Amino acid sequence: MCGIVGYIGEVDAKEVLLKGLEKLEYRGYDSAGIAVRNEQGITVFKEKGRIADLRAAVDTSVEASVGIGHTRWATHGVPNRKNAHPHQSASGRFTLVHNGVIENYHLLQKAYLKGIQVASDTDTEIIVQLVDLFVSEGLSTEDAFRKTLGLLHGSYALALLDSEDADVIYVAKNKSPLLVGVADTFNVIASDAMAMLQVTNQFMELHDKEVVLVRKDGVTITSLEGTVLEREPFTAQLDASDIEKGTYPHYMLKEMDEQPTVIRKIMQAYSNEAGELTIDADILQALQEADRLYIIAAGTSYHAGLVGKEYFEKIARIPVEVHISSEFGYNMPLLSQKPLFIFISQSGETADSRQVLVKIKELGYKALTMTNVPGSTLSREADYTLLLHAGPEIAVASTKAYVAQIAVLAVAAYVTAGETDFDLKQELAIAANNIQAIIERKDRLEKIAEDYLKIARNAFFIGRNLDFCVSLEGALKLKEISYIQAEGFAGGELKHGTIALIEDGTPVFAIVTQKAVALNIRGNVKEVTARGANACIISMEGMAEDDDAFILPKTHPLLTPLVSVVPLQLISYYAALHRRCDVDKPRNLAKSVTVE
Ligand code: M6R
Repeated sequence: MCGIVGYIGEVDAKEVLLKGLEKLEYRGYDSAGIAVRNEQGITVFKEKGRIADLRAAVDTSVEASVGIGHTRWATHGVPNRKNAHPHQSASGRFTLVHNGVIENYHLLQKAYLKGIQVASDTDTEIIVQLVDLFVSEGLSTEDAFRKTLGLLHGSYALALLDSEDADVIYVAKNKSPLLVGVADTFNVIASDAMAMLQVTNQFMELHDKEVVLVRKDGVTITSLEGTVLEREPFTAQLDASDIEKGTYPHYMLKEMDEQPTVIRKIMQAYSNEAGELTIDADILQALQEADRLYIIAAGTSYHAGLVGKEYFEKIARIPVEVHISSEFGYNMPLLSQKPLFIFISQSGETADSRQVLVKIKELGYKALTMTNVPGSTLSREADYTLLLHAGPEIAVASTKAYVAQIAVLAVAAYVTAGETDFDLKQELAIAANNIQAIIERKDRLEKIAEDYLKIARNAFFIGRNLDFCVSLEGALKLKEISYIQAEGFAGGELKHGTIALIEDGTPVFAIVTQKAVALNIRGNVKEVTARGANACIISMEGMAEDDDAFILPKTHPLLTPLVSVVPLQLISYYAALHRRCDVDKPRNLAKSVTVE
């Protein structure tokens, strides 16, 4: 949430910053700003709205080879120009961008900044005012920055400019991601390597509470106490083309189309030389020794976790609990004797999940993270990582990462089981082909979106067992990008209250892929159509009936979520397009949710 960039070098910083912010726009897009420093001092440009609005507001005649930038997802203060970053101290000497939340900002304001008139409603401004105050009391900028960091409670990634020193950007992080990108004649900072791939693929990881001075010819990393720390750069394994939209109108469409390839990549990444599915021996041992798995995740990743529970229980015979991360950390259930925690997170940065990870590590438990982002916080801080191999997912609505999470969960459960009565690799290959076949029928799905959702105010998604898990994800996809009120329900549960909402024309999407409950869910469809619902049945070959709206190619019963979710993703996409919604950047959302 919120994206930060910075540049210090020899060429004009503005374009590097703006291009970097464009790549980070998925992290928040309600306002944006840059600050650049030259001999005349610091100039700030900021605007409410998208990076395109900021670009239009930037005075191209201002040239400077040092600068910082920010794209915002509002936490404190409404999204407007006043609350947009960068923020400046009252004297105008210091300028700061911040990603995160300062929990004690109000206390700090009361304790230290009584006489100082603040210009915004943000927690961020308090940080820059504190630095200015401590400098006015006689500290150097570096010491004032250190002292300020020592007072902050909460999460932050920060970059600070001093108008009286053109040679350095002061940088620090705690719980929020931030990297330094290095090169011969310049250095950069970014919340995500993607933002700076345009200029370098060499990055240094920063750790929490380090104080970092970034100059054009060097980077100095110290602990908060001042000990100098050595850090080697790593090469970002990302191709700039991975993050381009190419000829696609939206990232979401591109990412849905990539889903068959993602499954094939996972099969390859988790195969040994003999071509058999495998996972790291230490992870396998941790899974086999656990008496219960606790899956912790949020949003779409939580929905994948629900499918994962079925896999570990049905294939590997290990009991599993799945928990919403923002609930678990503050209300832990009784834990088993030998639990293993599995964190599922596309970004690996979700703050709700991280707070659980911190707590269970304090209790001495082991954690495995399944993530798409190597080196992400949840990956670094867990004992083990299984990568999703989905490639960068830029659209806010998660699609290919969900499919990747389910495929990796299936592989992990299958390998943990040892003996099984089916060949997962073969079944995954079939599922990948089946997704391809569904993707090739986009016209039909666009028509379904038009027929069922063009004038809908709300919609229901129903299913039983694994189909219920997918119905939750289908509803989330639809509501987050089209803003149609949508709910996923267990088919049998509607009659216990929610059926009261069914009226003439209410769209109900029913998923029918599980033979054991196919008749039951069809019975539930009859209950809603008897009350006027417009039912759209998505069924699987072998259990389809004449009036079903869309037939899925036959897939292994445990792997049906991989294919049944795809028409729901595409229907949501077309429904959002019909409503002229911003598919890749839905309102109020951000891709990486780094605040609790
Ligand atoms: O990066 P994570 O997987 O931890 O993110 C969790 C949720 O914020 C995320 O899945 C969200 O629900 C998606 N944007 C929904 O499409």
